[in-house]
Amino acid sequence: MAFNPSTKQIGFIKAALFVLALLPFLRMAYLVAQGVPVEPLEFLTRGTGDWTLYFLCITLAVTPLRRFTGWNWVIKLRRMFGLFTFFYALLHFTCFLWFDHFFDIAEMLKDVVKRPFITVGFIAFVLLVPLAATSTNAMIRKLGGKRWQQLHRLVYVIAPLGILHFWWMKAGKNDFQEPIIFGVIVAVLLGLRVYWSVAKRPATS
Ligand code: HEM
Repeated sequence: MAFNPSTKQIGFIKAALFVLALLPFLRMAYLVAQGVPVEPLEFLTRGTGDWTLYFLCITLAVTPLRRFTGWNWVIKLRRMFGLFTFFYALLHFTCFLWFDHFFDIAEMLKDVVKRPFITVGFIAFVLLVPLAATSTNAMIRKLGGKRWQQLHRLVYVIAPLGILHFWWMKAGKNDFQEPIIFGVIVAVLLGLRVYWSVAKRPATS
């Protein structure tokens, strides 16, 4: 189905998605301000963790959506989704640093080293930083398209680390349902890229 919105329509779609992407944050802040969650700190840490993972999957789904539908314009939404991944990851990390360690960096780092599921989440977050920092047009120009693309392939490491972090956390409760669902989603999204890159390679005799 051909759907080729004009630049103005794309601007409108982007603005609408921007507001939608902020809603989970606004909802969480509202519910906590109203005193609804019984465990507000846990509610915020977990809610922001969930939305980091959702936006990671949404960002990775842009290229498959473009290839399957021919909607090339969706690529223009990818940067915004990537930045929302970072936004929720930063909130998630801030919750941990604040609620678990009262901004004591040394204590926080000790915890990062001590608990493997935190170690993995922390590595994923640290790897997200250069991606967010190089998301501007000026940085793309400065790095050059090819190097920028190579750097942004880090997302193929970040996503499995995010799943491993989630899996490890839930393993303590013997509850694997959601990690399996998201593990399959990420495996399909990354598997498609492997398939496309192998299919593109010229056959050697
Ligand atoms: C790409 C990076 C990350 C992703 C995708 C991610 C994702 C998640 C998810 C999905 C959860 C489970 C939420 C639920 O129970 O529904 C979670 C929990 C958690 N994450 Fe992360 N996370 C990331 C980075 C981090 C970092 C950097 C830290 C801290 C250094 C961290 C600390 C935690 C903690 C403390 C919990 C809650 C554990 C509990 O309540 O028992 N995460 N994360």
